[in-house]
Amino acid sequence: MTCNWSEFSLETQGIRAGQTRTAEQEHNDPIFTTSSYVFNSAAEAAARFSGQSPGNIYSRFTNPTVRAFEQRLAAMEGGQRCIAVASGMAAIATVGFGLLKAGDHVVSSRSVFGNTVLLLRNYFAKFGVQSSFVDLADLAAWEKAIRPDTRFLFLETPSNPLTEIADIKQLAALAHAHGCLLIVDNCFCTPALQRPLLLGADIVIHSATKYLDGQGRCVGGAIVGAHDLLEKEIYPFLRTGGPAMSPFNAWVFLKGLETLAIRMRAHSENALGLAEWLEQQSWVERVYYPGLASHPQHALALSQQKSGGGIVSFEVAGGKEGAWKLIDSTRLLSVTANLGDVKTTIIHPGTTTHARLTDEERAAAGIRDGLVRIAVGLENLGEIIQDLQAFAA
Ligand SMILES: Cc1ncc(COP(=O)(O)O)c(C=O)c1O
Repeated sequence: MTCNWSEFSLETQGIRAGQTRTAEQEHNDPIFTTSSYVFNSAAEAAARFSGQSPGNIYSRFTNPTVRAFEQRLAAMEGGQRCIAVASGMAAIATVGFGLLKAGDHVVSSRSVFGNTVLLLRNYFAKFGVQSSFVDLADLAAWEKAIRPDTRFLFLETPSNPLTEIADIKQLAALAHAHGCLLIVDNCFCTPALQRPLLLGADIVIHSATKYLDGQGRCVGGAIVGAHDLLEKEIYPFLRTGGPAMSPFNAWVFLKGLETLAIRMRAHSENALGLAEWLEQQSWVERVYYPGLASHPQHALALSQQKSGGGIVSFEVAGGKEGAWKLIDSTRLLSVTANLGDVKTTIIHPGTTTHARLTDEERAAAGIRDGLVRIAVGLENLGEIIQDLQAFAA
């Protein structure tokens, strides 16, 4: 069946978009584990390689299972084109290699994934690209940091781990007024809760490793946006640079997308319940969760997200010692830095995900010693709470 998937709901897109049945009439998506494809003639091979005729050539840049995942995610994000790559970091690196040249400048939120900061600061800088870092929610700081040579603005919203919110519409307008692009890493919300392209962003980045998979199995990434921008400026780097997604991983992510809408609803419900419970505990000094009415940007969050998402951070009394004691007292929760899994995970950002920052950088980012981050999974909420309650007993 050929459909215009943009006319369908996210739930249906997640299950149906992107599938092309083969002559075998399979109901489920097949996995094409082949590195290359055969041509009927030398002329056909030449036409494929020159781009004159469409079709598969080599799985570094053309694979039917990967394409199915790309088309499904593009439909869900409201984008025209998606390029799947090997990891979330490969997605950010590929966008950089595609869009940037020596002498360009990037403005990024300070509160992005640590490796994103390192990529901009340590690697793109080696090729003559400068980056400035600003506070996510400070619009004036973004404007001040933009220069004539700025190519794009980059952010994550909500931020990790403090769940600060960026106003995507305002930042898109600011970027466009200065001839720049706005790139949003939508890993925390996924299109099930937030669609940055529909709010004015130009490119959406994903670590598919997180909620798109949803069960902590595979590493992958994706770039979504307008057809011409991706086709002309980013896809050629995938073909030449080679950060390809494997067909098996694409198949796992296709299965993940089928349940994304329902999982994100359930993650948000569990997270809100946990955040409300944490707010009542005497040993918790502060809770960060955009779904809580007490979150300073609650109204903005709910104007661009369907719900608060699955990440809850909070400060435990007693600083690092208190935070470690809480983490060590849990039995059910997994002590791991990954997120977006059906299994609830708990981590101390100050000594793990943000340990490579200097003390000053950590303080500027608001990562205090007592901070704990929980990526709330889909276990029974009462049993997640019971696991944390053991600490206070
Ligand atoms: C917001 C965000 N973006 C990007 C990445 C990188 O993704 P990957 O681990 O798939 O390379 C992560 C990983 O934790 C992340 O949390």
